[in-house]
Amino acid sequence: MTSSALKPVQLVSVATAVPDCVLSNDELGQVVDTSDEWIFPRTGIRERRILPPDRSLVDLATAAGREAIARAQLDPMDIDIVILATSTASERFGSAGAIQGVLGAKRAVAFDLTAACTGFVFAVATAAQFLQTGCYRRALVIAADVLSRTVDWSDRRTCVLFGDGAGAVVLEAGQTAGLLGMELRSDGTGCDLLTLRNEAEPHQLTDSIQVGQYRNQFIAMNGREVYKFAVREVPEVLEKTLFHSGLEAKEVDGFFLHQANQRILDAIAARMDVPVERFASVMDRFGNTSAASIPLALADWVERGELTVGQLAVAAGFGAGLTWGAIAFRWGRLDD
Ligand code: ACO
Repeated sequence: MTSSALKPVQLVSVATAVPDCVLSNDELGQVVDTSDEWIFPRTGIRERRILPPDRSLVDLATAAGREAIARAQLDPMDIDIVILATSTASERFGSAGAIQGVLGAKRAVAFDLTAACTGFVFAVATAAQFLQTGCYRRALVIAADVLSRTVDWSDRRTCVLFGDGAGAVVLEAGQTAGLLGMELRSDGTGCDLLTLRNEAEPHQLTDSIQVGQYRNQFIAMNGREVYKFAVREVPEVLEKTLFHSGLEAKEVDGFFLHQANQRILDAIAARMDVPVERFASVMDRFGNTSAASIPLALADWVERGELTVGQLAVAAGFGAGLTWGAIAFRWGRLDD
């Protein structure tokens, strides 16, 4: 199929779901030796949301997905494909199926996609392929993570950074191009910089055979190297995406980057010579929610009227893998 035969794709709605429970920096000071004075200036984080143990990632992701479908004025039966971007699925065989079932999106094929904090960008890019080729017409991309379940709550270097949340977008094939360009990258040589491993522990099965049994490890990271990676690579991937899209940075109304750290956003904005006010920032309220952080930032701007239908946006994710990537799009349903 030639590129001229590809169907235009639009991002027509966004919605989020976050747990009610708020954990502030001051409260974290009762858990580990830390303080708001240490955390906020270094990260931009004031508080994060925590999912209680009796609720699941599926609950959170389904709530975001259901609302995104409603905001797109659609019925779950209109959805052809559901992609769940997550690194913290409750079901290691994949949680997208459970979400599809609860939503009643019976016609949709559903699967998980794991690309850490780049998961939202990779999932939108993946869903778009099905729509551009004409295979499907409408996709639901949900990005959800519950990192509170994966951190070592006695390790102040990591536990202060992360929180729980979900965000979802509906993509639709249309007449006018919403999605304008993308650039996706991976570098597995950096896979040890950020990890959330299943380590195989030996278990003696018979006298002569040992098997490995998975044991979940906590999140581990080399914060300084991740900072250098993000500030080096993300501006380049943003520039390439803008170039593919025929855009210049000064034309973009809103930049929606993974919400890891305010200092990373400040440095990237400075490198691109873009006022940092055009970079959405919600990490003060939610911390780092991995895959969910971009749709949380996007929804914040859309709900406050900062990004309106037809305006130009760029989203960029970066994180474990290493993975990083960006998409440029004109926001909203453009054919109405
Ligand atoms: N409270 C108080 N002190 C702390 C805390 C804390 N929460 N965390 C670390 N410290 C102390 C350490 O113990 C250490 O003290 P020591 O020198 O006496 O041993 C000192 O602060 C420096 O510790 P580092 O781990 O080296 O902290 P660093 O200066 O690198 O700052 C930070 C940590 C803010 C995370 C930084 O590495 C950073 O900005 N990284 C960017 C990447 C990032 O944000 N990653 C998040 C997830 S990755 C992703 O989403 C892609």
